[in-house]
Amino acid sequence: MTLDKPRNAPARPKFLRVLSGEPVWPPPLWLMRQAGRYLPEYREMRAKSASFLDFCYDPKSTVEATLQPIRRFGFDAAILFSDILVVPDALGQKVGFESGEGPRLDPIHDEAGISRLRESIDLNHLAPVFETVSRLKQDLPRDTPLIGFCGAPWTVASYMVAGRGTPDQAPARLFAYRHPILFRKIIDKLVTASIDYLLAQAKAGVDAIQIFDTWAGVLPAGEFDRWCVSPIAAIVAGVKAVYPDMPFIVFARGAGPRLIELEDATEAQAIGLDTSVDPEWAATLPETTVLQGNLDPLALIAGGAALEEGVTRILAAFRHRPHIFNLGHGILPETPIAHVERLVALVRRDQI
Ligand code: CP3
Repeated sequence: MTLDKPRNAPARPKFLRVLSGEPVWPPPLWLMRQAGRYLPEYREMRAKSASFLDFCYDPKSTVEATLQPIRRFGFDAAILFSDILVVPDALGQKVGFESGEGPRLDPIHDEAGISRLRESIDLNHLAPVFETVSRLKQDLPRDTPLIGFCGAPWTVASYMVAGRGTPDQAPARLFAYRHPILFRKIIDKLVTASIDYLLAQAKAGVDAIQIFDTWAGVLPAGEFDRWCVSPIAAIVAGVKAVYPDMPFIVFARGAGPRLIELEDATEAQAIGLDTSVDPEWAATLPETTVLQGNLDPLALIAGGAALEEGVTRILAAFRHRPHIFNLGHGILPETPIAHVERLVALVRRDQI
């Protein structure tokens, strides 16, 4: 008898198979922000560290936080525990997290603010992140790929300029209108910094990379290509120049039909869909585009019929094409654990 594969050869993880364009049923599943405050074991561990950034730079904590949701739910991929704002921190901007209020940075108002940033990203400062990746490659189950990530330049810049999250990131939009040349300097610096950062994550062993452009949706038509699409395309190309096979997922929240532009202009394998995207519309995109998403995180909090109907609709729309099941944005701290368990069972067709 001939065997196609050597005995005991590990099957390629579903998540990576889908990222290479293969439809897999049922689809692989992971959740944005799957580590964090909805988990009691995370809250307990986090209460012991002085600040969120201290936690992010302590590999023992970040390895454990990454593993917690994998142990509990057996998701098909793990995501490195860190934050998008470690990049401005490693560029020398003052970054802190107020408990319960989110990030606070020393806002950039003018050229002087930009000149206070380092010339290039301090990768030594981020050594604990790369250490976390190396340790996770040992500690994760062999069939659970590790996702690395960074924030997209527009989203990261919007926090650097405003110094905080705002409802519509108006401070950064105004800055970009008033001082396009200065804003371009920030974006260019972030493109280079993100490439350096992701290359180091790739070297440490991540299996795929997601770029989070959480604030893409507030950009008007004329600004979308300049500040969202082009910088992301440059980052993907910069990493692929060294790691041509590294799969990329781009999550641009609120991009709507402009997702097509992102798909066309970048070499990313997959496009993340936010909650507002109609799965039936997205299913009409070319089959070569891998789609990820997009259950409403509030449907997961509500559970019951809202959860069942949301899952059924997404599974039906993407049944015959490469799809990675996920939420349409990060899981919220109020989410009941039992609802996440139900979601996993529904997607895996276990108990229905
Ligand atoms: O599990 C994972 O997905 C990995 C960890 C992760 C975190 N932040 C941990 C975190 C990831 C991928 C991020 C990305 C991130 N950070 C984004 C983009 C994705 C998104 O959700 O839109 C953004 C915009 C940030 C910036 C940020 N970090 C904000 C606005 C906040 C405060 C809001 C909040 O949820 O508290 C953070 C803090 C943060 N990042 C926490 C966690 C677990 C909570 C801090 C704590 O535990 O006290």
